[in-house]
Amino acid sequence: MHRARLNLLSTLLCLAVLANPCLSAAVKSKDWWETAQFYQIYPRSFMDSDGDGIGDLNGITSKLEYLKDLGVTAAWLSPIFTSPMVDFGYDISDFFDIQPEYGTLDDFRALIKKAKELDLKIILDFVPNHSSDENEWFKKSVKREKGYEDYYVWHDGKVNAETGKREPPSNWLQAFRGSAWEWNDVRQQYYLHQFAVQQADLNYRNPLVVEQMKRVLRYWLDLGVAGFRCDAVPVLFEIETDENGQYADEEVSGLTDDVDARNYLKSDLIENRAETIDMAYQWRVVMDDYQRIHGGDTRVLLIETYAPPAYTMQFYGNRSVEGAHLPFNFNLITGPASDGVSASSIKTAVDSWLNNLPPGRTANWVIGNHDQRRAASRYGAANADAMNMLVMILPGASVTYQGEELAMTDGEISWEDTQDPAACNSNADIYEQFTRDPSRTPFHWTSGTNAGFSTAQKTWLPLAPDYATVNVETESSAERSHLKIYKALVELRKTSTTLQKGSTKYGVLKENVFVVKRYLSGSESIVYVANLASKGITVDLYEFDKTLPTHLNLLIRSLQSSKKENALFEVYELSLAAGEALVLSTI
Ligand code: GLC
Ligand code: MG
Repeated sequence: MHRARLNLLSTLLCLAVLANPCLSAAVKSKDWWETAQFYQIYPRSFMDSDGDGIGDLNGITSKLEYLKDLGVTAAWLSPIFTSPMVDFGYDISDFFDIQPEYGTLDDFRALIKKAKELDLKIILDFVPNHSSDENEWFKKSVKREKGYEDYYVWHDGKVNAETGKREPPSNWLQAFRGSAWEWNDVRQQYYLHQFAVQQADLNYRNPLVVEQMKRVLRYWLDLGVAGFRCDAVPVLFEIETDENGQYADEEVSGLTDDVDARNYLKSDLIENRAETIDMAYQWRVVMDDYQRIHGGDTRVLLIETYAPPAYTMQFYGNRSVEGAHLPFNFNLITGPASDGVSASSIKTAVDSWLNNLPPGRTANWVIGNHDQRRAASRYGAANADAMNMLVMILPGASVTYQGEELAMTDGEISWEDTQDPAACNSNADIYEQFTRDPSRTPFHWTSGTNAGFSTAQKTWLPLAPDYATVNVETESSAERSHLKIYKALVELRKTSTTLQKGSTKYGVLKENVFVVKRYLSGSESIVYVANLASKGITVDLYEFDKTLPTHLNLLIRSLQSSKKENALFEVYELSLAAGEALVLSTI
């Protein structure tokens, strides 16, 4: 059939599907990413194969079987590209090559090959907002070489009428403290950097930049990746200059007195702009076109955004256009307090995602990443299983940051050992407020030297102190462990149609008990109940749901639980120890 007619036909079909939600549910079977278990690898800290104290690609390849064994669907790797490592790979000097410390393109090909053999998908970090100041593009832009003049956001700055001195174009602040503008002596202009001085913001109002970055996407797709986690997307565009060629100043926010901290100013002018959403839609076209031309499974876009729901949800797309498959849901990170978690804070976090989710879109749940303190430290180690259960019982995709399956906690990093620019830009007295090093300490494989991560004398960051007990080896051989609970959960997600397709009901019981029910006609219901309090309690699940049967069968229990699996428990009088979390099912 003629292509245009085919397109028209499929459009009509889609319209019919859109107009009839029942039909859409029946026609649409779940794509791989909708029920996926994503796993974030921080390459520098996962596995070191060559004894230099730094994780690398061959290290990752050697551990892919571990991911397979966990039941992971896709691993996303923090940046592995050539970089001076000012921001540990988020400052890319060559978007088309591998950082030598991490290996070579051939090592990367070997990694992809092995992953394919194991039926694991590999997702890369796409860092669109900025490049390293050592990138060729930046060097050419500094020299105003043809085609590169406007690759970055350059400005003359302003002359202060009183002092006669030149000043930055605006009061905008970078994420890692201090001005977002840096003077370049050669070009005699300021350039914008929303992150470190060495991370120059690319100019997305230049079509050459937009095209170049799409080339980056296609280049790695050609090498066999299953998609991208897109870094720091909300800051892609800033407000344009006014009619006098000047940038507006931000207003003071009143949130902090620290004039160097990003939240000292409002930052409306430099993030969450409308043009940014459109760019994500354009990247989606790149993904879909690629699949259409080359076949294979859906190539996915995961978007990093810490924006308000009204903005974040737009990344999904709308009735007429597709956007990212999954804008990350960080509500469970940003909502609960940094020193613990409560049932009501979980409820608020879940409400804020599910009540704002556009129809037909897939939810996702994230409890940690390389920018946050580790989940087990933030929620309290006692709640580690409860939180791993929660993200796997709630509907949609779930994301694990390396080590969450073991309940790894934060490392302790002295000022002398500090590496993260967010901390290094501060001082010895206050760096712990900013440092992201504690969640980046090496992964724990064994109870031996360097936790089996490396044979080096010194690893790039010191090991977290609990590695002798919290590690893969110990937790695999223990009768019960966080790791074993995690694996049971992944297995349940894979086999339970209710978890994959069912509806969701949730709520708070007594002071601090969170309950979720997943249900699907014709299948068993799954009930999650977690006592997040520090004391035991007895609850009546009928207060949550009157339609439950009198007894539920226990499938999975947190380490605190002394109940027995495959035994029945009365729902109207369910006693829960402190920190006890259960996954039960109807029979
Ligand atoms: C993202 C990354 C973070 C990095 C920043 C700048 O937020 O997750 O690690 O420092 O972007 O690229
Ligand atoms: Mg190494």
